[in-house]
Amino acid sequence: MSVNWALPFEERIVPEGAHNLVDIETYHKLHRLSVENYKEYWASIAKELPWFKPWEKTLDDSNPPFYKWFVGGELNACYICVDRHAKSWRKNKVAIIWEGEPWENEKAREIRKITYGELFREVNRVAYLLKSYGLKKGDVIGIYLPMIPELPIFMLAASRLGVAFSVVFSGFSADALAERMNDAEAKLLVTADGGWRNGKVVPLKQIADEALSKCKTIKNVIVVRRTKEDVNMAQGRDEFFDKLMESVPQNVYVEPERVKSEDTLYVLYTSGTTGKPKGQVHDVGGYLTLLHATMKDVFDIQDTDVYWCTADIGWVTGHSYIVYGPLMEGATTLMYEGSLTYPEPDRWVSIIERHGVNIFYTSPTAIRGWMRFGEEWVKKHDVSSIRLIHSVGEPINPEAFRWLFKLLGREKVPFGSTWWMTETGGILISHTPGKYLVPLKPGTNGPPIFGVDADVFDDNGKPQKPEERGYLVIKKPWPGMPLTIFKDPERYKQVYWSRFQGVFYAGDYAVKDRDGYFWILGRADEVIKVAGHRLGTYELESALIQHKAVAEAAVVGVPDELKGEVPVAFVILKQGYTPSEELRKELNLWVRERVGPIASLKNVYFVSKLPKTRSAKIMRRVVQAVVVGKPVGDVTTLEDGASVEEVKRAYLELQKEVQG
Ligand code: PRX
Repeated sequence: MSVNWALPFEERIVPEGAHNLVDIETYHKLHRLSVENYKEYWASIAKELPWFKPWEKTLDDSNPPFYKWFVGGELNACYICVDRHAKSWRKNKVAIIWEGEPWENEKAREIRKITYGELFREVNRVAYLLKSYGLKKGDVIGIYLPMIPELPIFMLAASRLGVAFSVVFSGFSADALAERMNDAEAKLLVTADGGWRNGKVVPLKQIADEALSKCKTIKNVIVVRRTKEDVNMAQGRDEFFDKLMESVPQNVYVEPERVKSEDTLYVLYTSGTTGKPKGQVHDVGGYLTLLHATMKDVFDIQDTDVYWCTADIGWVTGHSYIVYGPLMEGATTLMYEGSLTYPEPDRWVSIIERHGVNIFYTSPTAIRGWMRFGEEWVKKHDVSSIRLIHSVGEPINPEAFRWLFKLLGREKVPFGSTWWMTETGGILISHTPGKYLVPLKPGTNGPPIFGVDADVFDDNGKPQKPEERGYLVIKKPWPGMPLTIFKDPERYKQVYWSRFQGVFYAGDYAVKDRDGYFWILGRADEVIKVAGHRLGTYELESALIQHKAVAEAAVVGVPDELKGEVPVAFVILKQGYTPSEELRKELNLWVRERVGPIASLKNVYFVSKLPKTRSAKIMRRVVQAVVVGKPVGDVTTLEDGASVEEVKRAYLELQKEVQG
């Protein structure tokens, strides 16, 4: 996929309120130094963390690509995010501002402010509770919760014990949850009776129950009461959280486990090129070092700030930049439960005004959604507290950039688009207003952050010419990189480190302009970014072929004005079934139920044949070109393992079927 708008390489915006401005040459000069001495550079950042035991080796690169950062060092993520602040002047500072979604009347409105002192008490109590289940270092727990404070509290409590966790986005279905929990071999699941989304209750416990019937390893379930719906409780397996907490002493202290830098903090599943979702395993020391650097440099976080990242903690953005990043800095992080436009399109701006948000981190899809409602909704509110904006998840179109820059940024605050992925742990390419700021350009990701050596390669693994499309690569290890794919190191090697020798292949198309700014254009593989969320074609296709009417299926992403990209399916029906509008609807519902509501198909085309290469691989680019009406000439050289003639023929045949 590639963006379908022009890239304004030459435009330069210097926001009025920017400090730390440098010219591009100076940035690159200093940046080069940090990259040439990257181990020393990252060590200088890591030194700012409170280690229980200092590391002996900054980077163990003896077994690439299985790099280990800060080897010999010991620390604890919960201690760093909670204890040290609770034991300081920040004890009474608000750590988490939480706002619930229901807003119809005064009675429904809920806002919670949790201080570092209170957070300390809660994570200790929850750690005590988890320990009572016999959980210990090396175990994995599953977390399937809506955006409520218990979500970060359970994550932190697990880290306190050195127990790894695997959060599953609460919009995912029972099948998706079961698949992830089985792969992670989770021993316990934390879920809720339900969650609020767009004024409706999402029946999480019911979904979890369906998943649990397929989970082999989960023996216990803790159920947080959020919506107070009646739920089934399996005797001997399920317990309500509030009930359990009644027997936990109020001021209990659980010693934070001294974990190794390269121990596992969490496993987060993400869709990849092909095959099942992969568990990205993140370490403790490297991960926190990258978060520390980016909270300072990218977000310029200060003690006086209210910081709001609008992501869901179920995705990596929330792990890094709602929970661990801001809390490790002792910041006030805002967490909002529901839809940003519920009950009115200005809910998000009202949150900014109500809590005096200073730093705002959101997504292009959210911005495009707000644009549809018009400027008036934003203008109703005082947004003068905003001093910094960033976006993430997908390329931002210049129009969306300009809209938010004008209305929220009042054309004077830095506004960037931070590139990173679940794999990278934290931001790698972005403007860094907290360190050195170079001029903005609408839609760019800017230069790589300090210590990160990024480049754009051509098909042959050579640096691509400026302003020409190639593949994004990271040429040196960075802290925050995955340790491996959970239980599948071979896969880790093959997916990220084999496309080009010795460098990390991100799977994104990118362009570098003459100023050394990166412009990430979208995925070069079979990943679809729906509203910034990552979906693998495999997950959708395997859901489709489970349907009794479906013989074969191919799913591709096509551009969408609002969501960036959306999936469309091509389906070959089994004998005895005929295409119909009803079946189309049924298949769409089927996929949503099996994967989750984000997997909504824009269209289902019934065809009699799918274009395939000689090795039976579906020619996805051909399929995609047909839907978007791209000329066949643009795709003929792109398919591996098929001749130009074969691709042309397949294209024309498919086109005839789709149009016919
Ligand atoms: O294609 C890139 C896109 O999101 C992918 C990573 O998705 P995920 O692992 O879900 O993480 C999303 C949030 C970190 C990337 O391969 N992407 C992410 N941020 C940007 C982006 N594309 C363009 N601009 C961005 N700022």
